[in-house]
Amino acid sequence: MVLPGNAEAGRVKAEAERCLECHVQPGIAQGHSAGEDGKFARLGGQQHAYIVKQVQDFRAGRRKNDFMAMMANSVSDEDVADIAAYFAAQPAMPAAAKEGGKGGATPGVAAVLFRQGDAARKVAACAACHGAGGEGIAGVAPVIGGQGRRYLSQQLHNWRSGERSNAPGPGMREAAAGLTDSEIEALALYVSEM
Ligand code: HEC
Ligand code: HEC
Repeated sequence: MVLPGNAEAGRVKAEAERCLECHVQPGIAQGHSAGEDGKFARLGGQQHAYIVKQVQDFRAGRRKNDFMAMMANSVSDEDVADIAAYFAAQPAMPAAAKEGGKGGATPGVAAVLFRQGDAARKVAACAACHGAGGEGIAGVAPVIGGQGRRYLSQQLHNWRSGERSNAPGPGMREAAAGLTDSEIEALALYVSEM
């Protein structure tokens, strides 16, 4: 069961537990690390249930990252629900400004993969699960539009190699499995501009 959480309590806890140091959104409050080049995940505007699941997965070792496993073990289920509520209530992730942001993304190989996929290689359209603008579909797949470019690229590599395998179904791994390095870079740029 996922506790609903309290966003105001979550704001205080996210600060006290240091989550903001790495996961703050550019343009919101203090912090820097999730900043322009997006090495760490942005959590602002992310789905509540998705955030909670990831923390549980780090804790249980279903998603591997030593530092996040330590952070996940240092907070209670109630803390996580509150912190997730705080992040989920924030505005959508701000798109990178390069091509004008939101909708201004450069067309090309990434746009085709995102919208249509490539049936010949069993690459499903990203939009089918993540929404036409990467805004996420509750209960299906998380927000990715406006997520940091470096983080997106890293995660796509992790899905492809199997380093990350904590999705509820096989769809995400299958979609990543057929991507080339240059397609991953193109998709990471495209999605970060959405
Ligand atoms: C020192 C930096 C740092 C701090 C502090 C930190 N994290 Fe993280 N967090 C990371 C990194 C790095 C990742 C990506 C791990 C990976 O590669 O899978 C991550 C990933 C996550 C994710 C998954 C994001 C996604 O889009 O899938 C969640 C949720 C998360 N952290 C929550 C938290 C919470 C809650 C706290 C505070 C209790 C916290 N983090 C503190 C560095 C940090
Ligand atoms: C069948 C549905 C499905 C398809 C198709 C799909 N995804 Fe996903 N994706 C998911 C799910 C579900 C997750 C989250 C899994 C979890 O709970 O950890 C995810 C996670 C991700 C993440 C990690 C997000 C984060 O915050 O860490 C990225 C990046 C991503 N997808 C990009 C893509 C791209 C790019 C494509 C197209 C090539 C794609 N996905 C196609 C279902 C899908």
